[in-house]
Amino acid sequence: MIQPRPKLQRPDDAKTYDLDESTLVGPPLPGEVVVAQTDQLVDLLAAEIVARAVTCVRQFGDFHLALSGGRTPQPLYERLMYDPNCRQLPWAHTHLWLVDERCVGLDDERSNFRMINETIVVHSGIPADHVHAIPAMSETADSDYESQLREVLQRRQPGEDRLDFVLLGMGLDGHTASLFPGLEVLHERIHLIRRVEAKQADPPKRVTMTFPLINAARMIAVLVTGSAKAPMIERLASGHESLDELPIKGVLPAQGELKWFLDAQACGHAE
Ligand code: 6PG
Repeated sequence: MIQPRPKLQRPDDAKTYDLDESTLVGPPLPGEVVVAQTDQLVDLLAAEIVARAVTCVRQFGDFHLALSGGRTPQPLYERLMYDPNCRQLPWAHTHLWLVDERCVGLDDERSNFRMINETIVVHSGIPADHVHAIPAMSETADSDYESQLREVLQRRQPGEDRLDFVLLGMGLDGHTASLFPGLEVLHERIHLIRRVEAKQADPPKRVTMTFPLINAARMIAVLVTGSAKAPMIERLASGHESLDELPIKGVLPAQGELKWFLDAQACGHAE
């Protein structure tokens, strides 16, 4: 499951979608870049998740989906639940993992699991033993969650024992998951899950998937919306900053696919 870090590959072409009034061109990022208006972007990403889930269940009998917290993906999670086009998503055969969790109780509004539970879990009919919350308040949350991941993924054939779809977001400071600028965990090579403390974050204490696990995934999707994040997307596309300055640069799948889902505002197009 753990793969060596690959070399950066830049795409020759950034995919564009012809929209009603304009064509939106995406920035040059490693992988495929999908640019659309926010609502259409959510549709495209929801359709991608459904299609991947159906394919994986057909191929392996199950689908391992890791979701991020934060505000950006909430409309997507709602769409997955209420859009008739998403009804095909085989929740009964899906395992739901968390990319990261804040060290707060489940009743705290900052809890990622709380949001995902309220938006998805209670509506989806997913079996309770397929829902893998991070026990973030436990001192052994990192090793416990890593053991759980290894145990469940190892039910698959060797080589297929990896996450199928990891949905990431990006913070204003370029963090992804709870991998924040300057943290030593950015260079983790062995552990799949780590406890971290980032002074700039609220709350500072978190538990997070690491790059060796994220980059081993079959598919990584990064969803970024809103004009506030446009400067960071521009820095990512054109800058030569280090991983320590721009953690999201560490997202480089070893043997999987990477797709950026950016709305027009995140690409610097006018509101
Ligand atoms: C978390 C998330 C984190 C998130 C970014 C973006 O727990 O904070 O998993 O990595 O994706 O911070 O957050 P927003 O979508 O709220 O901007």
